[in-house]
Amino acid sequence: MIRSLPLAAASVDDPWADWLLHERSAGDPEFEMRIQARVSEYIDRALRPLELPPGATLLDFGCGDGALGLRALSLRDDLRAVFADTSDELLDRANERAEAAGVGARCRFVLLTGGDLAGIADASVDAVCTRSALAYVPDKPGMLAHFHRVLRPGGMLSLAEPVFRDDALVCCAERSALEGPQAPELPAALHLLHKWRARQFPDTADALAACPHCNFSERDLIAWAMQAGFERAHLELHIDSGPALAPDWESFTRHTPHPFATSLRDVLDWDCNPAERDWLESLLRRQWEQGAMISVDRMAYLQARRPGAPAPEPPAPG
Ligand SMILES: C[S@@+](CC[C@H](N)C(=O)[O-])C[C@H]1O[C@@H](n2cnc3c(N)ncnc32)[C@H](O)[C@@H]1O
Repeated sequence: MIRSLPLAAASVDDPWADWLLHERSAGDPEFEMRIQARVSEYIDRALRPLELPPGATLLDFGCGDGALGLRALSLRDDLRAVFADTSDELLDRANERAEAAGVGARCRFVLLTGGDLAGIADASVDAVCTRSALAYVPDKPGMLAHFHRVLRPGGMLSLAEPVFRDDALVCCAERSALEGPQAPELPAALHLLHKWRARQFPDTADALAACPHCNFSERDLIAWAMQAGFERAHLELHIDSGPALAPDWESFTRHTPHPFATSLRDVLDWDCNPAERDWLESLLRRQWEQGAMISVDRMAYLQARRPGAPAPEPPAPG
């Protein structure tokens, strides 16, 4: 008998806190260290192009537990940071980390309750920098207009955002094939693998169009930034393939790549009957043991400026 899968983390009160603090590494400290090392690379790439005046203020949008803003504060002791997120628990965690790092006095924390950056004044920050947060905002053009609004003239935007659209398109193509006239000729493995992949990405055109983190490409990001009034926009798409980051098979099966996905372990236990589960698990485990479990990261890095000259620096005292 196939049981029906309980709703994944998306039903939890604060899915992001739950995912970022526990689920993404399946509670495995070695896995968490590897994830943090990878995230630090993305963050450093997003911070590097920023040109910040002395005493600048940086907005870390979708700050999570504060990784990006805290890294920026560690690089410049004249910098101030505004940490903004929809998760109260993650803002608390960022606050605790800022205090522990001795930079609390240079930080402000803003709980976002709508899609409008309420609580952050017009032209009040010198840079907006974000990693893997805009991707999850349903109205990206609207949010880019708010980034433009809160930046001072001449201020910089720098984003590092994952692009999942290709994964979703593959998933949609699989489903069409599995429901098409050739379906009986397709290998049983494809049916089972699709059960897993369809728990990670939308597999119909309608579901894809409605999914904020899958329904856009890097080209949309740059077009929307220019429509929002940004200039000197520059975008790079980095595609890197490599072995899956999990240190062992158990952690691999228990982790989820984002809070709206279901772990492989839950798919095996809840979506498959016992014969399917044993078959799929042994197929994937063999792949894992041969080092053939490859993951592909697609990250878009976008920088742009709000037009206008930065305000002149105040004259030095005396
Ligand atoms: C993948 S985590 C990234 C966290 C952090 N930027 C980092 O690099 O570790 C995504 C973050 O975006 C936040 N988020 C999701 N939707 C948001 C929205 N509509 N507005 C602001 N933040 C949002 C989540 O609460 C979460 O902290």
